[in-house]
Amino acid sequence: AIDISSLRSQSGYITLDYGYKNTGATTSAITFLDGEEGILHYRGYPIEQLAEQSSFLEVAYLLIYGDLPTKDQLAHFEHEIKIHTLVNEDVRKIFDGFPVNAHPMGVISSLVCALTAFYPESTNPDRNQEMIELTIIRLLAKMPTLAAWAYKNSQGHPVNYPKNSLDYCSNFLYMMFALPVEEYEVDPVIVDAMNKLLILHADHEQNCSTSTVRIVGSSQASLYSAVSAGINALWGPLHGGANQAVIEMLEAIKNDGGDATKYLNKAKDKNDPFRLMGFGHRVYKNFDPRARIIKKSADQVLGKLGIKDPVLDIAKQLEEAALSDPYFVERKLYPNVDFYSGIIYRALGIPTEMFTVMFALGRLPGWIAQWKEMISNKEPIGRPRQVYVGSTKRDYVPLDKR
Ligand code: ACO
Repeated sequence: AIDISSLRSQSGYITLDYGYKNTGATTSAITFLDGEEGILHYRGYPIEQLAEQSSFLEVAYLLIYGDLPTKDQLAHFEHEIKIHTLVNEDVRKIFDGFPVNAHPMGVISSLVCALTAFYPESTNPDRNQEMIELTIIRLLAKMPTLAAWAYKNSQGHPVNYPKNSLDYCSNFLYMMFALPVEEYEVDPVIVDAMNKLLILHADHEQNCSTSTVRIVGSSQASLYSAVSAGINALWGPLHGGANQAVIEMLEAIKNDGGDATKYLNKAKDKNDPFRLMGFGHRVYKNFDPRARIIKKSADQVLGKLGIKDPVLDIAKQLEEAALSDPYFVERKLYPNVDFYSGIIYRALGIPTEMFTVMFALGRLPGWIAQWKEMISNKEPIGRPRQVYVGSTKRDYVPLDKR
C-alpha cells in the first residue's frame, strides 16, 4: 500500500511514471520526433534529406549550433576538429592497463572520462564560452582516435596516429584498419555508408543515454564525465547495445538451422526472457524512419561491395514473419534502426564488438547539443522524486536481541 502523504511535494502531488513513458523532462529545440507518423527532424530538417545530402560533421554543426553551417563555417569547424585529433601520449599508458579482451565500450567510456585528468579546467563549473567550445571540439576530434585505438588494442596491433589529410570518417577507418605492413586505401562506398549511419544516429531526443548526459551534466560535472556516463547508458542491450545483440541473434539463428519462426515463437513466449533484438521502440509505434533508410542502404552497400550475407536473408525472413504475426502487429513492434545497422557495419568490416562504439560516435553530437542546450537553459539539477513503499517507522533492535 502507498502512503498518500509520501506523494505530496512542495509543488503538489508527485507523478509516478516508471521509465518516464509519458513524462517530459525538458523542453528542447533540437530534434522533433513523431512516433505515430514515423517522422524525425533535426533542427527542422527531415532525416531523409540529411542522410542523403549532408556529411556527418555538417549535421554535427547543425545539432550543436542550431543552423546548417555556411561553407566558411563548415571549413573552420572541420579544421578545428582536425587540429585536435591527437590524444596525449600518456593516454596510451592507460590502454596498457586494459586486458586485450576488454569490451571497447568500457574502454572508451573510461578514456573519455580520463580526459578530465588531461584537461582539468573542463571540470570548473565557471567555465567560459571559449572553454565550452574547446571541450566540444576536443570531444568530437578525439573520440574517433580513442575508439580506433580501443579496437587496435583488442587486436594486439600497433595504433595508427590520425592522418589529418583525410576527412572525419576516412580518418577513423584509416586508424581502424591500416596496418604498417600493407597499403590501406579508404573505399568511398564505405565512407559514404559510414557518414549515413552516423547521421542517422546523431540525435534522438530524450533517450536513455541522452537523458543520462543531461542529468549528469545538470550537476555541473564536466562534459567529458557526462558523455562518459552517456556511453555507459548506451552500452546496454535494450539501447545501443542492441546492434551487437541483433547480429549475435541472427548468427545464432543461422547456426541453429536458420529457422526464423522458432525464434519468433520464443520471443512471443512470456515464460521465455528472449526478446527479438532490433524490434520495438519506446516512441515509434508505426515504423522507425531510420530503419527504412538503413534497410535501403544495406541492400545498396552489400550490392556495391559484392557481398552476399546469409545473415541478411535471415533478417529479411524474420522481418516478414514478424510483420504478419498478430503478437508483433498488436504491440506495434517493428524493426528499429539497429535491426539493419549491424548488417551494414559487418559489410564494412567493422567487428561486432565495435558496433555500439559506432553508435556512440554517431550519437556524440546529439549528446553535446543536448548538454549545451541544458546548460544555456540554466536547467536545475535533475533529481526525480520517488514514491516510498518501504516499512513505516520502527525502532532499532540491538544485535543480540534479533
Ligand atoms: N520482442 C518480443 N516482445 C517485445 C519486444 C521484442 N523485441 N519488445 C517489446 N515486446 C513486448 C513486451 O514484452 C511487451 O509485451 P506485453 O504488453 O505482453 O507485456 C510489449 O511488447 C511492450 O514492450 P515494453 O518493454 O513495455 O516496451 P518499451 O517501450 O518499454 O521497450 C524496447 C522498448 C526496450 C526498445 C523494447 O521494444 C525492446 O526490448 N526491444 C529489443 C531491444 C532493442 O532492439 N533495443 C533497441 C532500441 S532502439 C535504440 O536504442 C536505438
